[in-house]
Amino acid sequence: MIIKSLIFINVFSVVIGILLIILERIIASYGEVTITMNEDKEFRASGGQSLLRILFENKYFIPSACGGKGTCGYCKLVVKEGGGDVLPTEALILSPAETRQGFRLSCQVKVRGDMKIEVPPEYLEIQEYEGEIVSTELVTSDIRKIRFQITGDETIKFRPGQYVQIKLDNDGTTDYRAYSIASNPDDDNHIELNVKLIPEGLGSEYMHSLKEGDPVFFSGPYGDFFLDADSGRRIICVAGGVGLAPIKSIVEYWKSHAMDREIEIYYGCRTRKDLYYHDVFEKMETENPNFHYYPALSEEDPEWKGARGFIHSLMEKHLGEGEHSEAYLCGPPIMIEAVMEVLKEKGVPEERVLFDKF
Ligand SMILES: Cc1cc2nc3c(=O)[nH]c(=O)nc-3n(C[C@H](O)[C@H](O)[C@H](O)COP(=O)(O)OP(=O)(O)OC[C@H]3O[C@@H](n4cnc5c(N)ncnc54)[C@H](O)[C@@H]3O)c2cc1C
Ligand code: FES
Repeated sequence: MIIKSLIFINVFSVVIGILLIILERIIASYGEVTITMNEDKEFRASGGQSLLRILFENKYFIPSACGGKGTCGYCKLVVKEGGGDVLPTEALILSPAETRQGFRLSCQVKVRGDMKIEVPPEYLEIQEYEGEIVSTELVTSDIRKIRFQITGDETIKFRPGQYVQIKLDNDGTTDYRAYSIASNPDDDNHIELNVKLIPEGLGSEYMHSLKEGDPVFFSGPYGDFFLDADSGRRIICVAGGVGLAPIKSIVEYWKSHAMDREIEIYYGCRTRKDLYYHDVFEKMETENPNFHYYPALSEEDPEWKGARGFIHSLMEKHLGEGEHSEAYLCGPPIMIEAVMEVLKEKGVPEERVLFDKF
């Protein structure tokens, strides 16, 4: 009797489960919708998904560094018609002025009917690529240098400082994570990334698991954090930890183009073992009078004879008058904020300070 009851309960649960799935599909289906983009492009899509996902499925690659969690704000674009009300999650990120101009977070807007949107034209140039891992190397206790080649003869045109988005398969759903390109844009068939392992992090654990020969799918290039190659001004680069990745690309470009501009690298880490490009920078300093390197460690290290403390304090000491300079900052938000204050004090104009926070 007990066994019969258990079988009945199990069968009943399975039937209810299947009915719920079917019901959810029916309710969540909004049928076919038409998306009109920049007034001259039109495509059909199945409603019920986020606008960001629909755009990706149709090969329009909108920056989405947080993978659609509604926290980075990179996916904002103008929805002219059909977007419904601004959601509380969007109101946390969008400024009142942006909301008035019709900006929405495309990862949060669910497509329920026809829609008219405006996408910046530069986004339409972002493409999808497939690559193959050629090498992977642990360069600190938690940062891995990963190099891949773009399949076939395809090349990617990017500027030093920009990033790519790696496609991740997450239990049947697709996710994305942003990683700055650490290599020189002149090598347009290869990409190097420097990825810090975040325990239980979806993207970073996946990147650290990749082996030579594995395929990798990505889109890019993204971002307006890149070197102004023709300004002629002094370049100030500030990196914290793995924030060195885009700075490394800038330095390699500066070197290979034999730029005669002064470049100052401020690089802050916790311990000596975390300074993963230290020897290369030290050597460059001896070879080129325009290259200046200022590393600092925030933790006690008896072996370390260099500067101690936070990187903004070192900048206060070494950075001269900043009017004819431009600055590129990459690292944790707290570092960026402290460095911005120093740059302001030194007279670096605000519009010439670019940053990527992560
Ligand atoms: C423009 C841009 C460029 C970037 N470039 C790089 C790069 O070159 N190299 C690189 O390593 N990363 C880079 N990042 C960060 C990267 O995109 C991911 O956010 C990071 O790898 C964590 O993702 P995850 O999937 O491993 O962790 P998730 O699965 O997203 O998060 C797992 C958990 O870890 C927490 N967490 C997330 N990030 C951190 C962190 N930094 N420290 C502590 N806890 C954290 C989350 O809150 C969550 O609880 C960049 C981000 C942006 C926006
Ligand atoms: S993808 Fe990050 S806020 Fe939308």
